[in-house]
Amino acid sequence: MGQTDIASLQLPSGAFTGDNWGETDARFVYTAFNALSLLNRLDAIDIDASIQYILSCHNFDGGFGFAPGDESHGGAAFVCLGTLAIAQKLHLIATDQCASWLSERQLPNGGLNGRPEKLEDVCYSWWDLSSLSILGRVDWISWEKLMEFILSCQDPEGGGFSDRPGNMVDVFHTLFGVAGLSLLGMEGLEEVDPVYCMPKKVMERVMKGRR
Ligand code: FPP
Ligand code: ZN
Repeated sequence: MGQTDIASLQLPSGAFTGDNWGETDARFVYTAFNALSLLNRLDAIDIDASIQYILSCHNFDGGFGFAPGDESHGGAAFVCLGTLAIAQKLHLIATDQCASWLSERQLPNGGLNGRPEKLEDVCYSWWDLSSLSILGRVDWISWEKLMEFILSCQDPEGGGFSDRPGNMVDVFHTLFGVAGLSLLGMEGLEEVDPVYCMPKKVMERVMKGRR
């Protein structure tokens, strides 16, 4: 799929569909902005319309839903803030109110959840923590407790990470566990870019090499 194809998935509302079948939400806005920014072709879309769509996903509690009117969710915070960051529009939201909703995701056991009353899960050590990092508010949660929680989800023999201690490990939670540890500044890990979930040094090379 080339850059013209991505642009053709944009709707007049500024939202994007994920495919030809019409499912629409902020995930697809982020993935379009991610890909088009890597291709240096954000000029192919109506950026302002998409930013309006993302702002319409912003809720009174400070969080973001995947679509207008949806309940706030940590995954939605990542895709909405990532889009705003790529478009350099983060100044359009109330940073502290959003960071406050995100920091409330930390539970007494140190893990982060995706929305109120839900269980902690290692993957939110990416969705929520990268969001706090984009906002420059990583220190609004306890680093020590989160690091301890993530490490407690590692299989000491196999090496991978699961969603919660003792569960079966998988690649998804291993990626987001390690990326979360990187955001927490763990020694020995490459620094990760909170918007692209790629090593910062790789992103620097990619952005420099764009045509
Ligand atoms: C379950 O939510 C959903 C997740 C654990 C993933 C959330 C993240 C995204 C959808 C972001 C995807 C990003 C891209 C770039 C496409 P739940 O609230 O139903 O379940 P839970 O109780 O397990 O948290
Ligand atoms: Zn998970």
